[in-house]
Amino acid sequence: MSRKVVLSGARPTGSLHIGNYLGAVQNWVKLQEEYDCYFFIADWHALTTGYEDTSSYKENISEVVKDLYASGLDPEKCSIFLQSALKEHAELHLLFSMITPLSWLERCPTYKDQLVQMDEKNIRTYGFLGYPCLQAADILMYRADFVPVGEDQLPHIEMTREIARRFNFLYENVFPEPQPLLTKAKLLPGLDGRKMSKSYNNTIALKDRGEVLRQKVMSMITDPARIKKDDPGHPDICPVFGYHKMFNEEEVESIESDCKAGKIGCVACKKNLYNKLSVAMEPIHKRRDEIDSNPDMVREILEKGTANARKIVEKTMGDVRRAMKIDWE
Ligand code: TRP
Ligand code: SF4
Repeated sequence: MSRKVVLSGARPTGSLHIGNYLGAVQNWVKLQEEYDCYFFIADWHALTTGYEDTSSYKENISEVVKDLYASGLDPEKCSIFLQSALKEHAELHLLFSMITPLSWLERCPTYKDQLVQMDEKNIRTYGFLGYPCLQAADILMYRADFVPVGEDQLPHIEMTREIARRFNFLYENVFPEPQPLLTKAKLLPGLDGRKMSKSYNNTIALKDRGEVLRQKVMSMITDPARIKKDDPGHPDICPVFGYHKMFNEEEVESIESDCKAGKIGCVACKKNLYNKLSVAMEPIHKRRDEIDSNPDMVREILEKGTANARKIVEKTMGDVRRAMKIDWE
């Protein structure tokens, strides 16, 4: 019995932050032990909204690969590759674009939301409308059984299933319908208490350590009602406490009661958190040092992953062209 296939993609946003790690990548690291895993950098997807300024494109890709490796993805256990290294993703996207009704794309909630949210960017393009169709090609190419994603991606998985059904109905049964694996978002707030996000500039990057990490932790907002050290605090609304829950399980209870009783100060509480975070992130930083000091490693990881992916891709595209009777010669 061959193992079930898991596939997921990450847009090359540059360095990953600990929210990305806890919300997604940590789960990928577990999945690689049990499944046949394909994890790729969706660099063409990044172009759909970022086509105007591509100055950090390559740097961002290499940062993501480094952080995926640092997080514990093991190139011996899973395939890590770049979407654009396998041009067949574009071919399958093109073929899917022939059979995907415009209305499916136009009614996609992520499409409608982004048009409003990214009002200042011109994303009224053909490519951006087709975003979910490209994602369907990414997923169905590997006949993935499971796609670990956050809740925001569910409409895209649903459309992938619809495109698979439509293809199978029009031609032949080539594609299984993938299931989403919903990653329970572990809520880790940003430094300012809002959702951690690059666009809010409130992140702790996976690679942050030492003085950079210490200053970020010390700059976190706390319960605004605490002015003096002995003012009673409300840990439940304090982002620092949220981090203690995640990274300092042993002391959560005592911190909670000491904070409520006004027995610890926020500065000490943050120093403590900085120490705990440093220890928790040490294995990630070690792997990051390893890949940073080895200039060929990013390329080697991608080459190995691409070679694995290529085998699947060639088989699928052969089946697709045959099913559609467009296999000329
Ligand atoms: N749209 C996904 C995101 O923004 C990235 C992505 C592209 C993806 N292709 C995929 C995720 C295929 C899962 C499977 O997070
Ligand atoms: Fe937050 Fe700690 Fe200050 Fe309490 S003592 S408000 S948990 S930083």
